[in-house]
Amino acid sequence: MKIYVGTPEEIAKLAAERYVKLLNEKPDAVLGHATGSTPLGLYAELIRLNKEGRMSYAKATSFNLDEYVGLDGTHDQSYRYFMDKNLFDHIDIRKECTFVPSGLDTSDSTAAAYDKAIEAAGGIDVQLLGIGNNGHIGFNEPNTPFGSITHKVELTQSTREANARFFASIDEVPTHAVTMGIKTVMNARSIILMAIGKAKAPIIRATVCGEVTPEVPASVLQLHPDVEIYLDHDAASLL
Ligand code: F6R
Repeated sequence: MKIYVGTPEEIAKLAAERYVKLLNEKPDAVLGHATGSTPLGLYAELIRLNKEGRMSYAKATSFNLDEYVGLDGTHDQSYRYFMDKNLFDHIDIRKECTFVPSGLDTSDSTAAAYDKAIEAAGGIDVQLLGIGNNGHIGFNEPNTPFGSITHKVELTQSTREANARFFASIDEVPTHAVTMGIKTVMNARSIILMAIGKAKAPIIRATVCGEVTPEVPASVLQLHPDVEIYLDHDAASLL
């Protein structure tokens, strides 16, 4: 694992350069994207660089990690909506090449088809991840099997509480989500994990220095050959 530490602005800029390099070397790259607060600085930087012509997404494909069950893409808390508003609407990617798991059709066959679609696209070149306070990656909550592929999950109370800030009340936070599995994530050729803020410091320590265990889903990343971790000073404070 390579670890980069800086201010939130510095790590956003540094991580963005990875995308410039990748998209220039491989214009038809397959990108795995995440939602949440953490990637917002990176996405703003990617939009700026794309508008400056430093790289193009015209031939790229995107697969998002996860989606809430029950929300369709027009719901302002759906992850499809988030991605459109915070990235896709502002870069030159073809919308039809951007994929987010369906929050409405949550059958096992549709979930499995998501993994098949990733494979058919050639596999993910760079998967971006945030991390939950409980170590979740995507919505793979503690004790998700490392061999899991895209599947429907029940969100833990702590995840629903953490995400309640985006909804009118906790009762409106969906109880379930569809997420790429841990195996789906580990199949990516390279992984970028980002974390910002003091609240993430203990789980970053457990992820990087702790035992590899399904109790800390992100600890599986220790087994991946190409992981870069971008942390602000607060998130890195217990390393
Ligand atoms: C988002 C996702 C989640 C978040 C994590 C951190 O698509 O899969 O794992 O990355 O919950 O969220 P933030 O960045 O809001 O702290």
